[in-house]
Amino acid sequence: MEIDSLTTRRRFLRQSAIAAAAAIAPRAFSHTMRRDATTVIPTLDPNSLARFVDPLPLPVVAQPQGDRAVPGRPGERVPFYRVPMRAIAGKLHRDLPPTNLWSYGGSVPGVMFDTQSDQGLLVEWVNELPPNHFLPIDYSVHGAERGTPEVRSVVHLHGGKTPPESDGYPEDWYVPGQSRTYYYPNQQDPALLWYHDHAVGITRLNIYAGLLGLHVIRDQAEQHLQLPNGKYEVPLVLYDRHLHLDGQLSYPVSADPAHPWMPEVLGEVPLVNGKIFPYLEVKPRKYRFRVLNAANGRLYRLSLPQGVEVHQIGTDQGLLPMPVAVTHVLLAPAERADLVIDFAPHRGTRILLSDDAFTLMEFRVSAAPVPDPSELPATLRPVPRIAESSAVKTRWLTLDELKKGVAASMGMLLNKTPWHMPITEKPVLGTTEIWELANLTDDVHPIHLHLVRFQILDRRRFDAFQYVTTGTLRYSSPATPPDPNEMGWKDTARVNARTVTRIIVPFRGYPGRYVWHCHNLEHEDNEMMRPYLISN
Ligand code: C2O
Ligand code: CU
Repeated sequence: MEIDSLTTRRRFLRQSAIAAAAAIAPRAFSHTMRRDATTVIPTLDPNSLARFVDPLPLPVVAQPQGDRAVPGRPGERVPFYRVPMRAIAGKLHRDLPPTNLWSYGGSVPGVMFDTQSDQGLLVEWVNELPPNHFLPIDYSVHGAERGTPEVRSVVHLHGGKTPPESDGYPEDWYVPGQSRTYYYPNQQDPALLWYHDHAVGITRLNIYAGLLGLHVIRDQAEQHLQLPNGKYEVPLVLYDRHLHLDGQLSYPVSADPAHPWMPEVLGEVPLVNGKIFPYLEVKPRKYRFRVLNAANGRLYRLSLPQGVEVHQIGTDQGLLPMPVAVTHVLLAPAERADLVIDFAPHRGTRILLSDDAFTLMEFRVSAAPVPDPSELPATLRPVPRIAESSAVKTRWLTLDELKKGVAASMGMLLNKTPWHMPITEKPVLGTTEIWELANLTDDVHPIHLHLVRFQILDRRRFDAFQYVTTGTLRYSSPATPPDPNEMGWKDTARVNARTVTRIIVPFRGYPGRYVWHCHNLEHEDNEMMRPYLISN
């Protein structure tokens, strides 16, 4: 699954260059967060830390507190959960002092919802955060103007088919001391979803602080596949951070104190399930790993040493039609990969999981053989391709970059339209549309639509410069189909630089107002997000 995109490559090179720079910097002093020479803050070099001294933490499963009636649905009672958002201090590594974090339910990543398809649930999300933010707010960013409460939060279940009033609209934030109870019908296929903060203008800071967690949906059909389960099914949540030398979070700022927003944040320190360089003891048998890229801006390109067999069995919205043997797994922010790795041929060895930029963790395979009753079935679940002819509308939507002023930062937009402008995308409930996402920029943007799942039709390079200057569209390559491991249902699509990515979207679910946006959190917070309306 090699991705042959210039931009993707370039980005990897840039990321690797950062990693290389970090590696040659004096121990414990490396530095990448700088827009010019005036802002230099020493940050922790991960190479100064011992590797593989902490076991991989596993998320705590959320427990319901009885049943409650669903508002507006008389007679329907569902499990009720209460999850506080709180400041905590967490150990990211054996040799670092505790780090101040914000958490859902006491850990980062937060408590994990382990749920069944078609079994709805209610969650009361309680904001018990402190009154002041500890990361640098940019008051010039939309929705974060001075006078707006510094600490505010609203939860979105990413990938959830959720009614609009429970979807966590970015402007539906609330302050410490308040809570909201959201209803998740869970009427959707089994998949690994995740929940995270979505407060307008500070989402990047709230998620960086730790406001994210997993939500797994299962069903009978999936259970019958006999995939590795129980302790052989392990979630891996990947993200990166900059840390100060004392282990506290450091969020980079620009050289302009009036506009601290940074267009891209790639942390130097990799974490897996909230730990730096953890290890996991495994048996020589098959495991299922449910991987989420929860980073603000980093694309991960994951690999294991040659000879270790990896099959991808699922993507953002659940199982693929059949397992796909992969050598690398590319995950943009918010994308998920469901992987089966067989450790049976590797008894008594240690295996590193790596990204192009850094090593992430170590698997320690025990020596004694064990029985493995789990299966890797030849087929998983039918995913019929949606016919293009079923689309009632095709929208051409650009991903734009603009200079805001001579010294000011670059800004990004969707369809040249800022967040606060009237809604322009109004699909009709029950219809299918094709969205042509034309990326005019030199960056990859992971584009996510709330509520719906979609399929990627194809990608095609075009002359973005000519398009911008003359308005004429000239393709410079034939259309390429999605990668074999993208052939399932998606909710986030990698839109490569100077490429038109076409997605086909059945708008099913609920009428109402939702959002679509770039899931690079720095972009999302600074205008690369738009509302859309599903009309009846
Ligand atoms: Cu991961 Cu708008 O969301
Ligand atoms: Cu973006």
